[in-house]
Amino acid sequence: MSNDLADIGLIGLAVMGQNLILNMNDKGFKVCAFNRTVSKVDHFLANEAKGTNIIGAHSIEELVSKLKRPRRIVLLVKAGQAVDDFIKLLEPHLEKGDIIIDGGNSHFPDTTRRVKECEDKGLLYIGMGVSGGEEGARNGPSLMPGGSAAAWPHVQEIFQKTSAQVNGEPCCEWIGDGGSGHYVKMVHNGIEYGDMQLIAEAYDILKRGLGLSTDEIAEIFARWEQGVLKSFLIEITRDILHFKDTDGEPIVDKILDKAGQKGTGKWTAIDALDRGMPVTLIGEAVFARCLSAIKDERVAASKVIKGPAHEPFQGDKKQFVDDLEQALYASKIISYAQGFILMRQAAIDENWDLNNASIAAVWRSGCIIKSVFLSDITDSYRKNPKLESLLFAPFFQQAIEKAQPAWRRVNAQATLWGVPIPAHGTALSFFDGYRSAVVPANLIQAQRDFFGAHTFRVMPGKENDHMKSGEDIHVKWTATSGDVSSSTYNA
Ligand SMILES: *[C@@H]1O[C@H](CO)[C@@H](O)[C@H](O)[C@H]1NC(C)=O
Ligand SMILES: *[C@@H]1O[C@H](CO)[C@@H](O)[C@H](O)[C@H]1NC(C)=O
Repeated sequence: MSNDLADIGLIGLAVMGQNLILNMNDKGFKVCAFNRTVSKVDHFLANEAKGTNIIGAHSIEELVSKLKRPRRIVLLVKAGQAVDDFIKLLEPHLEKGDIIIDGGNSHFPDTTRRVKECEDKGLLYIGMGVSGGEEGARNGPSLMPGGSAAAWPHVQEIFQKTSAQVNGEPCCEWIGDGGSGHYVKMVHNGIEYGDMQLIAEAYDILKRGLGLSTDEIAEIFARWEQGVLKSFLIEITRDILHFKDTDGEPIVDKILDKAGQKGTGKWTAIDALDRGMPVTLIGEAVFARCLSAIKDERVAASKVIKGPAHEPFQGDKKQFVDDLEQALYASKIISYAQGFILMRQAAIDENWDLNNASIAAVWRSGCIIKSVFLSDITDSYRKNPKLESLLFAPFFQQAIEKAQPAWRRVNAQATLWGVPIPAHGTALSFFDGYRSAVVPANLIQAQRDFFGAHTFRVMPGKENDHMKSGEDIHVKWTATSGDVSSSTYNA
């Protein structure tokens, strides 16, 4: 009988769950399916799973009894309470060393907590980021498992065979302890927000700036799809722009300009603020969606607030489009550099050993941000795993150096036109700040000390007998300002 046992169980037969089961079945694994509404199980076995090796269960006990040991059970249920509920339902039926895998979009602190709670009970727990949507789940997603390291050898083969592949390498690697798998998935989604906003701004520049038609813009994206920007998002943008409604008009021109969001971009931006990391591009991408959402207010403002008079573009349009490709590329490099800076800090704060190259490698295919660009990031981190940031990688330094004049021309032109470029603008400003040994924070510090006696430190090389290195200095800026620093009277 025991060879009739399944390799893995999966709970939650919504589209993602069904597709992941079918994918694991295709890769030669025997899967047992369960859904709380058990009629779903029978329906699945009689339809989508017909003629496969997939088996079903009508209760948690039956599911557990049909699995090889250590038992491996994937949860693909709604993030939040449902995950905790299923862990509770499973626990009494599981044995030491059995493994629960949450493949949903859980917030990483929940996963960190669940790993600990399960390990305290002798179970193993994995929080696994799954990206690629329905298509990815069916044909090969990008998988980001993290949690109980002891569980990895028991799930490695299944997940690495189930994931997307690039040059024979799986888009699935062990990420690290605690909620690190879901954390990396969250940053992935934040970067996705950034990529989408950068592309939307480029489209706007071509449309409102250069005044091109939707078909002309589609052709430009088709060309970019052949170059350094080659990626899933550029490819679908090309297809979207080509797509016509029944009356022959591009459907994109009929879509209401109010962007929705489900929260993972916001989580990334909040996390960056909490950690004090300058992940400005994702922040701007989230805020751009917020601005899009206040449509009525924008419509009212558009009637009363004037921008610059539109000057038809006098330069070489072909050259400008090439510049825009370089600008998009440079801004994208900044966004990924910021994302990795955030993960660098999270690794320190949470005590995770995040492998930079592996993270880039698992994003190369299967997921929404998949691109050739991610192979270049993988190569850079493989050459130097401790790279301070992507902007220190020779490959990206050369790329930005080459793109820089075009990048500045595009930002300047968009600004003159009055076409909003929150993401491109912040990317260039971040770049200029990052490469500045001296920024104007000296003045901020002086202001803080002036009005709040917050003190400051002396610039190296400018020390004297009343301003010494390593000391908190307070200046009596006016006749009435006190001698006491705020830290003194706060104490
Ligand atoms: C059961 O399946 C339905 C979709 O068919 C899904 O919406 C639901 O979340 C599933 N429930 C669980 C917890 O298994
Ligand atoms: C990843 O890169 C950061 C610097 O960006 C470095 O501190 C860290 O050690 C690297 N991680 C690993 C596992 O090499």
